[in-house]
Amino acid sequence: MRFRLFSVLFSILLALSCSSATEDTSSDPPADPQQESEEEIDGENEPAPEPESEPELGWPDVATEDGSVWGGKSLIDFNDDADVVEVFLEAAPATLTLGDELDVDMYAYNGTVPGPLLEAKVGDEVVVHFRNSLPEPTTVHWHGLRISDEMDGNPRIQNPVEPGEEFEYRFVVEDAGTYWFHPHMKSNEQIEKGLYGKLIVREANAPEFARERFVAVDDILLDGNEMPPFLSYHMEFMHGRTGNALLTNGTVEELTDSAEEGDVERWRLVNTANARTMNLSIEGASFRVVGTDGGRVEPYEVERLEMPVGRRFDVEVLYDQTGEVTLNSNVLSRNDNGEIIEVSIPLLKVDVTETGTAGEFVRWAPAPTIEDRPVDREVEITFDARQDPYGNISWVLNDVQFGNKTLFEFQVGSVVRISLRNLAGPEHPFHLHGQFFEIVNGEPGLKDTVLVGGRSTVEIIAYFDNPGRWMAHCHINEHAELGMMAEIIVNE
Ligand code: C2O
Ligand code: CU
Repeated sequence: MRFRLFSVLFSILLALSCSSATEDTSSDPPADPQQESEEEIDGENEPAPEPESEPELGWPDVATEDGSVWGGKSLIDFNDDADVVEVFLEAAPATLTLGDELDVDMYAYNGTVPGPLLEAKVGDEVVVHFRNSLPEPTTVHWHGLRISDEMDGNPRIQNPVEPGEEFEYRFVVEDAGTYWFHPHMKSNEQIEKGLYGKLIVREANAPEFARERFVAVDDILLDGNEMPPFLSYHMEFMHGRTGNALLTNGTVEELTDSAEEGDVERWRLVNTANARTMNLSIEGASFRVVGTDGGRVEPYEVERLEMPVGRRFDVEVLYDQTGEVTLNSNVLSRNDNGEIIEVSIPLLKVDVTETGTAGEFVRWAPAPTIEDRPVDREVEITFDARQDPYGNISWVLNDVQFGNKTLFEFQVGSVVRISLRNLAGPEHPFHLHGQFFEIVNGEPGLKDTVLVGGRSTVEIIAYFDNPGRWMAHCHINEHAELGMMAEIIVNE
């Protein structure tokens, strides 16, 4: 079944690449009408004549613009204070064109999938005026940010934002890095339908790049132009919803762009799928990993980028050859003889023109070192499935469904070694809110997501430095919705 879907995926992509779209909407200059309305808004945003009275911000007609980061729209900052980012975000149903003659009814933040980029710098205060225009309640979770639990989109802490209601998210961003945001209610449906956005917290003194790209890799399940009913197939209960179309920055087609030999770019990658672990490669250029979930790492080279759901990588790409550079998604499929083979599907193609310049990787300042702290406690979290007499599957952490009982309580500042033990076959991308951890004998850097393969154990060292009530769950959204969701309390 799973492999059949991959084959379907392959043929869909083949069909689409024959009708080949060379158009890259994200780097087109903005259309004139929009330019005009943006200028109007800029005009309205002049400092108020009376400095004492705060200007009342109405909901703007246009809340996004073509920013400097390639890969889609950016949220407009309506605040004049250089240390405050104030934006308007709306979730609403939208009909989106995902490819040639492929219009699908989805959900979108400010009308785009992926949702627009929220950009801030370390230490900024971020104010998000959020409006829910969906026919159902939602919240916004800022995946990876170490902020207060009241602003984390946890529907057990904040009241869900009901249809037609607004909520103001307000927090300070302390950690530079690449993040994303998404709902934390019915996440298997709302994220699949297109509710996810991009987030960058910029470091001070970041090096300059020829270009910066943000690429959200996703897959969605389509039956014609429709998304089939949720949680109605056994496979989906077991493995989460694996799509039959790869969706890259909101298109099932191949993205294209151009660059010059010798250019160095920064790519920020995030896996926003419901369930699929992405296996990415970059052909035709030199690249290295320079950042991950929790920010900068010392640059290192890899062949493949394995990205469980929720994972981010910052990659530095050096165009040291001319010709075609591709970002590929490597998926398993079946060939005509029924054998399982790996197929490389290009998501993005960059045409590199000759300049005769060799170029070189950026000379980064040393990455911040992770302080070596003694472990205060060792605990275990087990991942398992339960089946009731009627055959219904639920997913449990430490035998508990939905963590109605708190999993652990730690004192703030605790360093905890956690054994993540997967007792069953399906893999689980474990995600911890509000804190970072390191993977013992794993990839370098601070993480908030780690893949726990079938019947295997991963050890992490977590730094519980942020007090509050925090969710810890599997990021296969179906598993989380079916119970693989717990709460960890960090006491002050
Ligand atoms: Cu990406 Cu609990 O979240
Ligand atoms: Cu899982």
